[in-house]
Amino acid sequence: MERRQILVTSALPYVNAGIHLGHMVEHLQTDFWVGFQRLRGHDVRYFCGDDTHGTGTMLRAQREGREPEALLAEMEAEHVADLVGFGVFHDHYGSTHSPENEALVAEFWAALRAKGHIAEREVTQLYDPGAGIFLADRFVIGGCPRCKAEGQYGDNCEVCGATYEPSDLIGPRSAISGAVPEERSHPHLFVRLESFHEFLEEWTQSPGRVPPETANWLKATFLAEPLRDWDISRAAPYFGFEIPDAPGNYFYVWLDAPVGYIATTKQWCDANGAKLEDWWCNPKSEIHHFIGKDIAYFHTLFWPALLSVVDYQLPTAVHVHGFLTVNGEKMSKRKGTYVLARTYLDHLSPEYLRYYYASKLSAKVDDIDLNFDEFIQKVNSDLVGKVVNLASRTARFVAGEALPDYPAEMDEGLFAAGAAARTEIAEAYEARDSNRAMRLVMALADRANEFVESREPWNLKKDETRQDELRAVCAIALNLFRQITIYLAPVLPRFAEASARLLSIETETRWEDVTTPVVGHEVAKFKHLMERVDPEKVTAMIEASRESAQPSETGSAASSEPGEALAGEPLEPECTIGDFSKVDLRVAEILEAKAVPKANKLLELTLSLGGSERCTVFAGIKKAYEPEQLVGRLTVVVANLAPRKMKFGLSEGMVLAAGPGDSELFILSPDTGAKPGQRIR
Ligand code: 2FM
Ligand code: ZN
Repeated sequence: MERRQILVTSALPYVNAGIHLGHMVEHLQTDFWVGFQRLRGHDVRYFCGDDTHGTGTMLRAQREGREPEALLAEMEAEHVADLVGFGVFHDHYGSTHSPENEALVAEFWAALRAKGHIAEREVTQLYDPGAGIFLADRFVIGGCPRCKAEGQYGDNCEVCGATYEPSDLIGPRSAISGAVPEERSHPHLFVRLESFHEFLEEWTQSPGRVPPETANWLKATFLAEPLRDWDISRAAPYFGFEIPDAPGNYFYVWLDAPVGYIATTKQWCDANGAKLEDWWCNPKSEIHHFIGKDIAYFHTLFWPALLSVVDYQLPTAVHVHGFLTVNGEKMSKRKGTYVLARTYLDHLSPEYLRYYYASKLSAKVDDIDLNFDEFIQKVNSDLVGKVVNLASRTARFVAGEALPDYPAEMDEGLFAAGAAARTEIAEAYEARDSNRAMRLVMALADRANEFVESREPWNLKKDETRQDELRAVCAIALNLFRQITIYLAPVLPRFAEASARLLSIETETRWEDVTTPVVGHEVAKFKHLMERVDPEKVTAMIEASRESAQPSETGSAASSEPGEALAGEPLEPECTIGDFSKVDLRVAEILEAKAVPKANKLLELTLSLGGSERCTVFAGIKKAYEPEQLVGRLTVVVANLAPRKMKFGLSEGMVLAAGPGDSELFILSPDTGAKPGQRIR
């Protein structure tokens, strides 16, 4: 097998917030993959770092009366400690606020300018004359222009769902100083993304670059139309890098953040006598980014566009995962399911979560759910009940003895079958399908346990004439155990090391070790390799998370940069009566229905909402209904859903339907007598 050179990154966490279990999905998924590649003997470097710039950092440092750099140092130390606590070790953990990054950003900028990709035009924005700062939408608060609700942010109303410009608010105020903002215009710099359209179409749609779901989404959502210019400058004051040829203007955080991947590599290279070009300008070097789906367009459109103007190479692949829900809902501070990495580590072993996430994650972009009952059950039954048990009920009979020559004739082909499984398990890991890898490994553990049960070593022990047989059975069980722990090593490296110590194995474990039985090694005294999950500790962790909830941590104006409060960010899941009253549910008559050509699932419906009010809705019910069946029917529509621009047109509402999907969908209808336009109450 040729030795691959692989550079791997996880998305750089925002410096402003603590790492929570949502972030850990990505860091652990990356770590499993890195661990697997290392176990296979490849030359791997794993980099990450803090994403530091933006108004949020600046305002927080001001609030806390210290320099941003002091805040950065403190948060970086916390982030690293959390990640290390979960067994995630990087070759280097950097920061976007570094001289290396500034120099690299300047290099990118010069290339963008030189190749004519920059446009400049005036942007009118609200400005806080008290704080002397342009206000992003979330930093303006006022009355909703539609329903008049007070205290709404400048982009949308949380009461009626209306979307608008901050200048449309009634009585707008700055969320920073409370001052009445004024409109001001300022020249902004834009990257002309459309000039990269053809390249991005080609790159994103090539097999293997991004997951198929992401490729399709990019094609339907962005690439179907001209790409809009990307505003990459922010007026001072801003915490970031000043634009070299536009003093008083700073690079938007999302421009310098991905460049931070290269800067972090550079820092590592400089400290280790390596060359940056060997990693970022070398066809033999693979570059893999692991990210969440909320930042996919930055990494699959903006980032490749930026890379295409310089000599650094494009990523080999961008691997995208979904969000984390906890007990089936978005993480909630009130329910104690917004769990910080630190709080988890204060209560439970990192190995539990590592195994649980591995058992849930696949190559799909689907969201995964952390269900605490399932978490307890899976860890206890798979890891403790199957894997640890295999060693605990055999090692004690041979403690202090050397393992004999492997008795292959007695093992019913189990060791050979376990070794043969390596191809399939490796394929699953390589494809980031750790769910499949774990299922394959647990199937091996099941068979090994059946073998032990059928041979009853505990009864052999009692029969002096059968001690050789006892030794052989234990040697088989412990070698099968060894195979299993090697397969689990990318996910459970500490457990794998402790298991190796049980068999007095000193050498570094390699993937191919699954093919060679361990012979002659002394079996150490059995020490407990893993305890069962104590449900009370899970409860205590939830309670601690409930207590430590700080309202300012979630999406407050002060902590969020546009696009910042995204990755797995928790929002309260419960729908209060107040929330529900925002939804304008109405009886609608379907006036027209037609199939959308080229869309598998969509019908275009023209609805009457009473009187002359009409709206168009694209509904995913094509497989369930012929269009003509629907014309003249009454149904129920969410009339105030924010309009969504789809490839085929604007969808202005949502028709309610029940059922699992596709051909099994049933649209809701009111009882006879209801009239179009009547509100559901
Ligand atoms: O979404 C986020 O958490 C960003 N801080 C990720 C940045 S990744 C890279 F571009 F730096
Ligand atoms: Zn409103």
